[in-house]
Amino acid sequence: MSLEKMRDLHLDGKYLETTEVNGILMTKLISDNWDKIWNFQAKPDDLLIASYAKAGTTWTQEIVDMIQNNGDLLMCQRANTFDRHPFIEWTLPPPLNSGLDLANEMPSPRTLKTHLPAQLLPPSFWKENCKIIYVARNAKDCLVSYYHFSRMNKMVPDPGTWEEYIEAFKAGKVLWGSWYDHVKGWWAKKDQHRILYLFYEDMKEDPKREIQKILKFLEKDITEEVLNKIIYHTSFDVMKHNPMANYTTLPTSIMDHSISPFMRKGMPGDWKNHFTVAQSEEFDKDYQKKMAESTLTFRTEI
Ligand code: A3P
Repeated sequence: MSLEKMRDLHLDGKYLETTEVNGILMTKLISDNWDKIWNFQAKPDDLLIASYAKAGTTWTQEIVDMIQNNGDLLMCQRANTFDRHPFIEWTLPPPLNSGLDLANEMPSPRTLKTHLPAQLLPPSFWKENCKIIYVARNAKDCLVSYYHFSRMNKMVPDPGTWEEYIEAFKAGKVLWGSWYDHVKGWWAKKDQHRILYLFYEDMKEDPKREIQKILKFLEKDITEEVLNKIIYHTSFDVMKHNPMANYTTLPTSIMDHSISPFMRKGMPGDWKNHFTVAQSEEFDKDYQKKMAESTLTFRTEI
């Protein structure tokens, strides 16, 4: 995506219109482009990084890129994260490039990004048996991160008040729909497809162990030295200052980091600084109902 063109973009109401695609809230721009997105042709050597918004996607992208480039820092700084890994459903008005345009122009092997729930993933990814890395993060930290992101990112709807946002998140009335359905939907798919299902909290607890899982999944071998280099350069404190990973190259009319930085806290448990005891109890009660049938468990602190 050309940053020059991005700078010329004057955001108005039409970018913020939302509508549902098969019951899932999306931007209207995505919905209008849905036929093309659904019919996207994946290739067998595509790698897809999938997640619910704010689950640690950018972090996973950086780890994967460093692995693919054998720890070569300059290579990993060749472009912004959003240009290195096309965000397949993200649709912008012409002349801006949408995720599909970027993906279609990119030579193989491609690494792509999506926030789509499993049931809305273009079927060619399943048909071509693409490898998929899914990263999940506990609901409360995801909610907090998504709330602040929605305040600073002018391309997603305003979150309203904190109280309103908790209710919208619980009801799945946020972009890309329900967190609960998303994590469960992908969890169910992992038994039938080549999906590495990772957890943000595990990555934070022991990045070396989790990067080794990614290496195995990608069938890559690297030296201990390169592994340590990757751990260092993908740590929160280093990524926070990497303009090719922290979204600061976007104009403030799109992301205003003075409202809340994209690289905000980068740790599990920040929800405790936001939820009151009553809000937390209420959230947990609703959570138990929505997650009761699932074998999926999350840690809300480490
Ligand atoms: P916080 O808002 O809680 O800080 P995504 O990339 O899916 O949009 O997720 C963004 C969240 O991941 C933000 O969470 C961001 O700070 C966090 N993040 C990004 N890079 C990270 C890293 N290297 N280590 C830990 N967290 C990271």
